Amino acid sequence: KLIPTILCGGAGSRLWPVSRELHPKPFIRLGDGQSLLQKAWLRGAALPDVVETLTVTNRELFFKTEDEYREVADIVGGKDLTNRFILEPFGRNTAPAIAAATLQVAATQGEDACLLVLAADHLIADQAAFAQAVSKAMQLAAQGRLVTFGIQPDMPETGYGYIEVDLDSPVPFVGGPAGESAGFPVARFVEKPDLEKALEYLASGRHLWNSGMFCFQAGTMLREMQQHCPEILAASRACLEQSRTAEGKSFSQVDLDATAFKLVPDDSIDYAVMEKSSNVAVVPCSIGWSDIGSWTALGALTAPDARGNRIEGEVTLHDVSNCCIHSNQRMVGAVGVNDLIIIDTPDAVLIADRSRAQDVKHIYARLKAEG
Ligand code: GDD
Ligand code: MG
Repeated sequence: KLIPTILCGGAGSRLWPVSRELHPKPFIRLGDGQSLLQKAWLRGAALPDVVETLTVTNRELFFKTEDEYREVADIVGGKDLTNRFILEPFGRNTAPAIAAATLQVAATQGEDACLLVLAADHLIADQAAFAQAVSKAMQLAAQGRLVTFGIQPDMPETGYGYIEVDLDSPVPFVGGPAGESAGFPVARFVEKPDLEKALEYLASGRHLWNSGMFCFQAGTMLREMQQHCPEILAASRACLEQSRTAEGKSFSQVDLDATAFKLVPDDSIDYAVMEKSSNVAVVPCSIGWSDIGSWTALGALTAPDARGNRIEGEVTLHDVSNCCIHSNQRMVGAVGVNDLIIIDTPDAVLIADRSRAQDVKHIYARLKAEG
């Protein structure tokens, strides 16, 4: 049994001012009208044999999330899907979110049930290749592995995890084309290395990017957490015991208790478990994956005009090149500028140098600190 588990939280601070605390990155809509969150849900819901999904998100985003799912439910038409939720009072990063999901799945579906953790802020262009990768991951998960999905790196990105692949011991892919392997053991997992290390990994030919998706049996993750981050597991278990659970035939909703959740240490699954475990496997995959991390990454999804501008919304330009300009209500005019990011929203405007897209997070942090 496979349960797509969507993690939707995190600020998306590099996509300010469109990404806000209560309108985070997963809710950003792309040119085709679908949000990143809807795409994540569809990605899981469309997999064969999936009958339920689980979403871990902020309590304040619950109704909005349900609406988002309802809006696209027809696309996987005919499937009688149950959408379950675990609602957080605030974000505690991904390790507590995954701990709560795993404990809940183990308690209700058994330790053999398989979770497929999906980030709510990615794009995957090739659904068929993704489904194939998931089927390989399930084979490795059934052998008691924590399975990652590895992406071929093409730049020394320091915002990702790197997976060193043990290329000498491929695991055969039962049921696939002859000679194909399901994946490889992971020699080492390094989360967000510095630039020097990232350059070394890029050149090694043995490293893949961690896509941020994971597949494992509930029992496997519980054992790994017990070994590597017992405080997170114990505090999450205590929190679930104190939380309100509404369980029906076709729904379930766990509202995490704020006082108990505050006692769960804040950490990401990458640092808390993946870097420490010796039980990680990777399915290398080519699935058209992209992480929409910044305005330049988001801009790259729209086709450029003749002068390299990426534009969305009502924009009038004169002698402008290589700019990324988004407007969601007003008309934006620009004259004689190059290499700018200009984002207009009803109550905030961002103007940034293109090369500083990563630094937009500082504006978000400053505004948040000032309340
Ligand atoms: N429910 C919940 N609660 N979800 C969260 C929380 C939280 O407190 N924090 C983050 N998330 C969600 C985000 O919305 C996103 O969908 C996913 O978990 C990953 O979190 P990010 O904050 O985006 O992680 P990251 O981008 O820094 O790093 C991860 O993803 C990279 C690939 O994009 C790591 O797994 C890296 O190793 C990986 O390379
Ligand atoms: Mg991310």
